[in-house]
Amino acid sequence: MQQRASSLNPDLADRLVAWQRQDGRHHLPWQGVRDPYRVWLSEIMLQQTQVSTVLVYFDRFLARFPDVAALAAAPLDDVLTLWAGLGYYTRARNLHKCAQTVMSEHGGQFPATAELLETLPGIGRSTAAAIASFCFDERATILDGNVKRVLTRVMAWGQDLAVSSNEKALWQAAAVVLPRHGVDMPSYTQGLMDLGATVCTQRKPSCLVCPWVDLCQARVLGQPETYPIKTRKLKRSKRESWCLWVEHRGAVWLVQRPGKGVWASLWTLPLYDSEAELRSAAQALGLPEPEAQPVVNHVLTHLDWRLHPLRSVSLQSLKDTALPHGIGADAEITGRWVPLDELASIGLPAPFRKLLEGQ
Ligand code: ADE
Repeated sequence: MQQRASSLNPDLADRLVAWQRQDGRHHLPWQGVRDPYRVWLSEIMLQQTQVSTVLVYFDRFLARFPDVAALAAAPLDDVLTLWAGLGYYTRARNLHKCAQTVMSEHGGQFPATAELLETLPGIGRSTAAAIASFCFDERATILDGNVKRVLTRVMAWGQDLAVSSNEKALWQAAAVVLPRHGVDMPSYTQGLMDLGATVCTQRKPSCLVCPWVDLCQARVLGQPETYPIKTRKLKRSKRESWCLWVEHRGAVWLVQRPGKGVWASLWTLPLYDSEAELRSAAQALGLPEPEAQPVVNHVLTHLDWRLHPLRSVSLQSLKDTALPHGIGADAEITGRWVPLDELASIGLPAPFRKLLEGQ
């Protein structure tokens, strides 16, 4: 396989670099800068979120935290609040931890090699390579999901990537086809990303506009879509929760989730495992009968979560009443009345923001 990779040298890299300069994306706000803070921030945001969403968050984040020192000095709660809606909140916790490590152990400067970058919280091998190649011209390869697709196709790499030795071999092959000169690395890395996002797509790739059209071994074999080969399917699970949505005089009762789990430390409606449990909690409080609202599907990588909101608008005096915290409630969970016009200032996961802001 390494031989197949080296037989593509130097065409593969040269053509990708030329294509990226001519036809790739150039106007994203984290491009054209070699500031590791901005590049790192964008790469972490882009790991599980699409570009159009990241654009909004990226500017907001930079306005509030213009440099790594500002981010490190901020309370974690402020970081989570700004992150709310982007999902996968471990990223935000690691972001904060990473900023603090850069300040305490690297004198406020991101280290300048992929090897050292990878030692920082939340920076994996591919992200470290992206930062090092964009900011320091290092000949380090990225290999995220899109790039695995692009490279397994061009090399007709038929080994199962669920087997770790095969994945390791693909990392090596990816290193073999890198440009010879570091100065080409930013365009090459961006080219891999652009090709995966816009041309060599999962379904119906646009082979005719691909700079590798005549090199692509999978195209020669006739079915580029079948790559990469992955036998092990991601195990998905399902969960259902019932959300008690109580409003009273322009405020809604929200609870802060514990420090672990999907929405750690964010604010949600109280959650129950069944409608019966929710209704009996509402009844015990003397709330008007809650009314079922349209179901919200919250799709995560490993989990389909169906949220059933039930809404009760109370006219009685409830202001001083602490409402229940929902299931799984323990001493860590706190609740409070949040005025509807202050929802923007607290960390709400996207499905609850949509629900409560009526979007
Ligand atoms: N996805 C991951 N990194 C990216 C980048 N730098 N530009 C566009 N999409 C990306």
